[in-house]
Amino acid sequence: MIQLNRITAKFGFIVSIVFLLFFANSVRAQDGKALFQTNCASCHRIDKDATGPALEHVEDRWPSRDKIIAWVHNSAAVLASGDKYANDLFNRFGKTQMTKFQGILSDKDVDAILDYIKTEQDKQPATATAAGATTTQASGSDNTLLYAVLTGILLIAVFILWQVNTNLKKVAAKKEGQPAIAAIPWYRNKKVITIIAIAIFIYIGFWLSSNAIGIGRQQNYEPRQPIFYSHKVHAGINQISCLYCHTNAQYSRHATVPPINVCMNCHLAINSYSGPQLKDAEGNDIDGTAEIQKLYKYAGFTPGPGATFDASKAKPIPWIRIHELPDHVYFNHSQHVMVGKVQCQTCHGEINKMDEVKQFAPLSMNWCINCHRTTAVQFKDNGFYSIYTKYHEGLKNGTIDSVTVQMIGGTDCQKCHY
Ligand code: HEC
Ligand code: HEC
Ligand code: HEC
Ligand code: HEC
Ligand code: HEC
Ligand code: HEC
Repeated sequence: MIQLNRITAKFGFIVSIVFLLFFANSVRAQDGKALFQTNCASCHRIDKDATGPALEHVEDRWPSRDKIIAWVHNSAAVLASGDKYANDLFNRFGKTQMTKFQGILSDKDVDAILDYIKTEQDKQPATATAAGATTTQASGSDNTLLYAVLTGILLIAVFILWQVNTNLKKVAAKKEGQPAIAAIPWYRNKKVITIIAIAIFIYIGFWLSSNAIGIGRQQNYEPRQPIFYSHKVHAGINQISCLYCHTNAQYSRHATVPPINVCMNCHLAINSYSGPQLKDAEGNDIDGTAEIQKLYKYAGFTPGPGATFDASKAKPIPWIRIHELPDHVYFNHSQHVMVGKVQCQTCHGEINKMDEVKQFAPLSMNWCINCHRTTAVQFKDNGFYSIYTKYHEGLKNGTIDSVTVQMIGGTDCQKCHY
């Protein structure tokens, strides 16, 4: 009897572990996503080639995961080892050197990224990769279903054992000549009700909090702006530096959108558009010249011979703000752009290829912290960090190979919160 009680308890324990594994697994896939977006997305897409190759089904192209991890840590070393596949790839991508992630990403981090790539590639209908790759890939890559089934089986086992237990109790009572205990149906049993209530409570709590945290976030937000101003035309095709317009990103917290006079520096002269056909997100044609006319309206400018400026008609362009952190967060552009030397594209995606700006990063706390954990600061010869003698020594005698933002306090709450 006591034996059986113990077994039931043990099963209950196993069920909770499986539940935990289930959640841990989904958290891990999210980690992989964040790590991919902060470290890899500036050069890699999953479904098509960019600066680097499309990463879907990458594991089919390499002999083992370890080899890929070695590559991510130090691609130059793999190339130097004479690996034919790697060298061919390197030549195919114009001998572009991939960033070295040694000391920045652990083996587990790269594992999480590869897991994330696997779940993503299975969401998309596989493109023409090696025949058969699709079928072998589809199975076993996402463990969610497996865990759900396991949990179900274990729950049923617990239920059966518990039934056996009460029946045995009944038999034993009968044997000893005691009046049979009136059977309580399972749905009236207090223990069962408590357990179910707790499970529902935890589930709803988890669901509510994960949704509430997402309120106000707007990854992929891409509003229609008052003028169809294309970053692809300006920063991409015409190679205008981001800092020409967003000068403040170097000196202050806010990057700020340029005032109209910055536009007019060029558009006093450029009054028509003759570049490639522009299309909006829905695929409709956009007339660039007409959009420049809109700019003139806001500027109070009449082009043509005897062009005039009428200041009384000028008004600021009501650009719709896209990226916006909540008020309780402190974020500083100059610190990241000038001191940290983080590229705009790492946080904002390939803006120079976007006609309409779209929010690329989730701007979640996890996103900031993940990057602070994995990104090395410009530490060497930086007077700003001379107080960290311990780390300087560590670097010199090789006990550490880099100093992350986290190590200088970049994950302390008060650094980002007022
Ligand atoms: C600076 C751009 C850049 C970044 C950042 C970058 N890569 Fe790469 N990656 C490349 C290029 C370019 C290649 C092609 C080989 C070459 O030219 O060295 C490549 C190749 C690869 C390959 C081999 C692909 C294949 O088809 O076999 C893998 C795997 C890979 N990268 C993973 C990653 C991961 C994971 C990250 C993020 C942690 C990352 N890369 C970040 C540029 C980059
Ligand atoms: C010729 C001027 C100009 C250049 C060059 C330029 N931008 Fe912009 N940028 C703008 C204007 C105007 C807006 C506001 C309209 C919009 O969102 O499209 C803007 C908006 C943005 C936004 C979104 C702001 C928000 O509301 O959240 C980001 C991010 C951004 N730019 C980044 C960049 C990056 C990165 C580059 C370089 C690759 C760049 N810009 C180059 C003019 C410019
Ligand atoms: C470390 C990540 C990171 C980097 C690097 C970064 N940004 Fe931002 N950017 C953000 C975040 C976060 C916001 C939202 C800020 C807020 O709401 O206070 C933002 C907002 C913006 C905005 C609109 C709001 C504002 O601050 O005026 C523009 C424009 C912009 N960034 C341009 C740039 C340009 C240009 C660069 C490169 C010179 C750059 N950013 C580099 C993270 C970054
Ligand atoms: C450094 C010079 C420069 C600045 C500054 C500049 N532009 Fe342009 N703009 C260009 C060039 C070059 C073209 C492309 C002309 C062509 O291809 O015929 C262009 C094209 C355009 C077009 C038509 C294509 C499109 O993107 O829809 C619009 C609209 C436009 N600019 C608006 C603006 C606005 C708004 C600003 C200020 C935020 C601005 N420009 C600032 C140089 C500039
Ligand atoms: C792509 C990587 C990256 C992302 C994303 C990022 N940061 Fe950072 N952050 C850095 C680096 C690198 C530094 C170190 C700069 C330096 O050397 O001082 C830094 C430094 C900081 C610091 C100063 C820390 C200190 O110890 O002085 C603050 C505050 C900060 N970041 C806030 C944020 C916030 C808030 C976000 C999210 C909205 C964010 N960061 C997202 C890379 C990142
Ligand atoms: C690197 C910057 C950074 C650090 C360090 C940081 N936070 Fe945050 N935190 C953020 C950002 C960004 C948000 C806004 C997230 C959003 O809007 O979804 C946030 C949001 C929050 C929220 C509101 C709930 C939510 O997720 O939106 C709480 C509570 C919070 N942080 C607590 C903390 C505590 C406690 C610590 C210290 C253990 C901490 N934060 C450290 C950047 C940071």
